[in-house]
Amino acid sequence: MGKNAALENTSHHGIPEAMGEKLEFNQIYNMDCVAGMTMLPSECVDLIITDPPFAIDFRAQRPNYNRTGSRVLEGYSEVAANDYLDFTRTWMKQAHRVLSTRGSAFIFSGWNNLKDILIAADEIGFITVNHIIWKYQFGVVCKRRFVTSHYHCLFLCKDDKKRKFFNSARFDGTSRDENGGSLRYRDMEDVWVIKREYWHGDKKTPTKLPAALVEKILQYTSEEEDLVLDPFLGSGQVAVVSKMNGRHYIGFEIVNEYFGFARERLDSGHYRLPTDIEEDTSPLSNVEGDG
Ligand SMILES: C[S@@+](CC[C@H](N)C(=O)[O-])C[C@H]1O[C@@H](n2cnc3c(N)ncnc32)[C@H](O)[C@@H]1O
Repeated sequence: MGKNAALENTSHHGIPEAMGEKLEFNQIYNMDCVAGMTMLPSECVDLIITDPPFAIDFRAQRPNYNRTGSRVLEGYSEVAANDYLDFTRTWMKQAHRVLSTRGSAFIFSGWNNLKDILIAADEIGFITVNHIIWKYQFGVVCKRRFVTSHYHCLFLCKDDKKRKFFNSARFDGTSRDENGGSLRYRDMEDVWVIKREYWHGDKKTPTKLPAALVEKILQYTSEEEDLVLDPFLGSGQVAVVSKMNGRHYIGFEIVNEYFGFARERLDSGHYRLPTDIEEDTSPLSNVEGDG
């Protein structure tokens, strides 16, 4: 955005007291994202990266994906499958309104409710640029079907001619791997193999996008000082990685405990937070994966 004054000062990060109050950028808000986005001016956001609830019977503390349940914060807010299409239409309509014509939106989805996101995107008038597959390293082991080890990521925009895209942001056309293959070509394929991060011993929320995944999107489709929105913050990963990469951020999270966790990460400048009050030694600039 022109980082304009339109998102004006509130002096807190909590629930704005009255509708119509302006929101600040470089803040996150403990509130429903539709109510939050309604308070943003049209076309003020340069990039949306988000991972909405999936409408699966998700148990926040289930110790899957090799996590220890007791360290996973409680309270994940899910949406009933029958309500998912309406829920998706409502938030995506606001997302479309606040997105700049030069901007892009990246929406993650499991396969279960992908159809609802595709329907809503078409109805609302988003243009689909790519359908990316994020392949991660371990899914939940199954006996009677194949292991799900990917998410879908829809790359959408409002204006395909005006949207920003920096194809040499990570590799120029001459960069080669050891076999002479083009590194840029490989990086720009639409299947992204990126490992999940396991934060052994530290506080965590049940789902989290890896920093490398968020960073890749930021690098290709935004510039420093751009405003990045995540309506469904969870652990605050999109805001934290945006901050680490010199972008402005704004976002919403409805569950108080997750909001507090995200805010603590942003305010402390620490990427990972220990479960007890011992000193944390991982600064924002030192992202660890696969801990
Ligand atoms: C899949 S998680 C997001 C994870 C996040 N990308 C991360 O890396 O940590 C979805 C989040 O949306 C939150 N949520 C659900 N409904 C919401 C709503 N209406 N407004 C804001 N947040 C909501 C959930 O509590 C949950 O934390």
